[in-house]
Amino acid sequence: MNTYSLLNVGRVVAGPGSVESLKELVADFGATQVLIISDKGVAGAGLLQQPKAVLEAAGVKVQVLDDTPPEPTVEQVETILAAARQYATDLIVGIGGGSAMDVAKIVAVLLSNPDLSLRALLAKAPIPKRGVPTLMVPTTAGTGSEATPNSIVLVPEDELKVGIVSARLMPDCVILDPKMTISLPPAITASTGMDALCHAIECFTSKKANPFSELFSLKAIALIAGSIRRAWSNGQDLEARHDMLLGAMYGGICIATSSTTAVHALAYPLGGKYRMPHGISNAILLPYVMRFNAVGNEAQFCQIAQAMGLEIAGLSPQQAAEAVVEALFALNRDLQIPADLKRWNITEADLEGLVEGAAKVTRLLDNNPRCMNKDDIRTIYKHLI
Ligand SMILES: [Fe+2]
Repeated sequence: MNTYSLLNVGRVVAGPGSVESLKELVADFGATQVLIISDKGVAGAGLLQQPKAVLEAAGVKVQVLDDTPPEPTVEQVETILAAARQYATDLIVGIGGGSAMDVAKIVAVLLSNPDLSLRALLAKAPIPKRGVPTLMVPTTAGTGSEATPNSIVLVPEDELKVGIVSARLMPDCVILDPKMTISLPPAITASTGMDALCHAIECFTSKKANPFSELFSLKAIALIAGSIRRAWSNGQDLEARHDMLLGAMYGGICIATSSTTAVHALAYPLGGKYRMPHGISNAILLPYVMRFNAVGNEAQFCQIAQAMGLEIAGLSPQQAAEAVVEALFALNRDLQIPADLKRWNITEADLEGLVEGAAKVTRLLDNNPRCMNKDDIRTIYKHLI
């Protein structure tokens, strides 16, 4: 067995209404000047009002940058960084989905390291000093960014999303308040939730899987499979929303200790070139990649089936693995996730570009439990065109 490690968030506060704990948390950080980094969707839904009011009632000066775009480019992150530099900040609070939290993490380290640029970070330059402390409040249950040392930035000229990975990006504190997710529309609940399920299943079957990821991924699979339909059909279901937030964070913990695999690798060119939403591209690919990966890994798939609550008594390991694949197709259907790539105008003519793009993501493909060559990748994309 290889050595393995788990980088963890320092403190997590969870439960309905836990945003109120910001009052004690800022005092523990000794923070007096807080910068909230968020996005227009979160601000428009009124989700910044309560955290802002709690912070101001605690005597903290609050600045807000709420213009993080979805899946931001290098230039867009640099614009937010320039705005952030205008403020004295001793705590950054990221409130939003993966994009807002990823940007909050990047801004935190670049504020503390003024000689470092985002381009240098993308080129894997080391980060000499700890960043400004960060506290994350996820408003989607998907990305798991609140529990990972990763940030993703789109590099348009390369039509590629690039991941920055550094222990310095690890958030210091997380608040999981399901009340912050009840206004999330069903379609986003579905796509971000399926992304979280991908994290859990991929990390469980990854070559980097280890006792830590096994623990958190099986629980994440159970939480998400057990609550995603309820959260999608009734956004006000606080228990389902709570389970989704926990499952998504567990998925993030899995990423921090294991790795995603071919689902995320094949999703990369779909996001980078065609700007498909991350969760949707992963959800569409998930059952096809898992049907491929199940061969030779049936015992693991039996564990996934059990975590998903599937009835597999009397089935052979191969039949149990196929039951997992069928359950994933059923989830996508029930959550009204598109079955193919047609609405993104992706056709046969795009196939070779997609294959080449995915084959380059060796960082993830190398961790896939079953070796996947270009012919295999092509076969999977062909199902979707
Ligand atoms: Fe993801």
